[in-house]
Amino acid sequence: MNNHNYDTASLWRMLTLLIHVLLFLVIVSFMYLILEDHIVSFLNKPKLSVEQLDDIAANRAKGRSQVKNDKWDLVENGIHLRTGLKADENLQLIIGACTSCHSAKIITQNRASREGWKSMIVWMQETQGLVDLGDKESIVLDYLAKNYAPQEMGRRKNLDLAEIEWYILNLDEIEE
Ligand code: HEC
Repeated sequence: MNNHNYDTASLWRMLTLLIHVLLFLVIVSFMYLILEDHIVSFLNKPKLSVEQLDDIAANRAKGRSQVKNDKWDLVENGIHLRTGLKADENLQLIIGACTSCHSAKIITQNRASREGWKSMIVWMQETQGLVDLGDKESIVLDYLAKNYAPQEMGRRKNLDLAEIEWYILNLDEIEE
């Protein structure tokens, strides 16, 4: 008996099977190339216990509150760094009353007399939904009038004539 007597049909079957297997291998390796990073990171993912996860969360929260404690209300050179407002004993009241709708910059960029500030507050109450500040209003106005009063424009200092290096205009040079 001759076992090597394949007919053409079975040869074709083997060939298509081989092609399918090769195609499958190509597709799999191609997908691996694409997904390699995901697969590797999935396999190397650290498996943390619930306690470890709790620790990590606690440490992060501690870090955050540390930053908040250290820096939250830091005052440097009389300026409250977080808001830019001038620091005094009523600062927290101002932060509470005046920074919920807009940045404190809108305050620090403005200057006005007590009456001027009063009219801005009235304007905000009439048109922007600012609530009645009640007995806090006079404290707020005191703070604003004291810290953000109109700046003295002043006139410029007199020139110190002796200090000036006078430029002697030489008309002859120009004519040349
Ligand atoms: C209910 C919200 C709200 C609160 C609280 C609030 N404001 Fe305002 N304020 C506004 C709005 C809205 C504007 C207009 C903002 C704009 O034009 O971009 C404004 C504008 C201003 C301006 C600019 C006015 C101008 O003429 O350009 C100043 C100054 C100001 N606010 C100061 C204060 C002060 C001081 C307080 C605390 C007493 C305060 N705001 C609290 C809503 C508020």
